Amino acid sequence: MKQSETDSNTPISEEANKAKQGPMTDTKSSNEAKGDEWPSSASDLKNVRSLTGNQTSEEEKNSEKKPAGESLLEKFFNDQLKDIYYAEQQLLKAIPKLEEAATTEELKEAFSDHLHQTQKHVKRLEKVFKLLGKKPEGKKCEAIEGLTKEAETIIKETKEGSMTRDAAIIIAAQKVEHYEIATYGGLVQLAITMELDEISDILDTTLMEEEDTDLQLTDIAEGFINIEAQDETNYSWLQEKGQEEFA
Ligand SMILES: [Fe+2]
Repeated sequence: MKQSETDSNTPISEEANKAKQGPMTDTKSSNEAKGDEWPSSASDLKNVRSLTGNQTSEEEKNSEKKPAGESLLEKFFNDQLKDIYYAEQQLLKAIPKLEEAATTEELKEAFSDHLHQTQKHVKRLEKVFKLLGKKPEGKKCEAIEGLTKEAETIIKETKEGSMTRDAAIIIAAQKVEHYEIATYGGLVQLAITMELDEISDILDTTLMEEEDTDLQLTDIAEGFINIEAQDETNYSWLQEKGQEEFA
């Protein structure tokens, strides 16, 4: 929004005074306070700076762009890379267990393919670390610890050789895929924002593979596994209905 569009009836000095006050110092009535909203976007902040004369100098701008150490966003980005690097390595151990526990050849094959992809995902992350001038390093990811633990519980609690086990394992694996999709999706966007073009392309390649795997698992489940799992045993409510009819 342009300066002239903000509030043409309000004198600039008054508006500027309002802008100087943050929500913490606001003791006015709610009507008066309406114009005292704290800037919620970068453009709002720019408007406030021009109103208050608090324009950032060139020197300040440069120091904002070139901090002495790692920027806050850069640190977060690096931490998330470590998180997903750890997660991918955990998956190298977990996927073979899912493959072994699966009932159908289709699902076993899907896990075998995804294991090979996961090895590539690890290599790609190592390349990203290298491009950033960092040593590849993992940081314990509580989410993947929980998701892989849940998958192990599902294996224990479902009958070996049953289609129900495959239906259940697919859901467990998709929870992992969705976690990875969220992480890679976010990292791709942050890399674009930070103008790390090569890194965003590398991460995007992995993101697309994770999305393909998720869709493939859905296709397998909906293609035949869920239906066959349904036919495997009778529902308790049908048994009850049958008993009522029999009585
Ligand atoms: Fe992956």
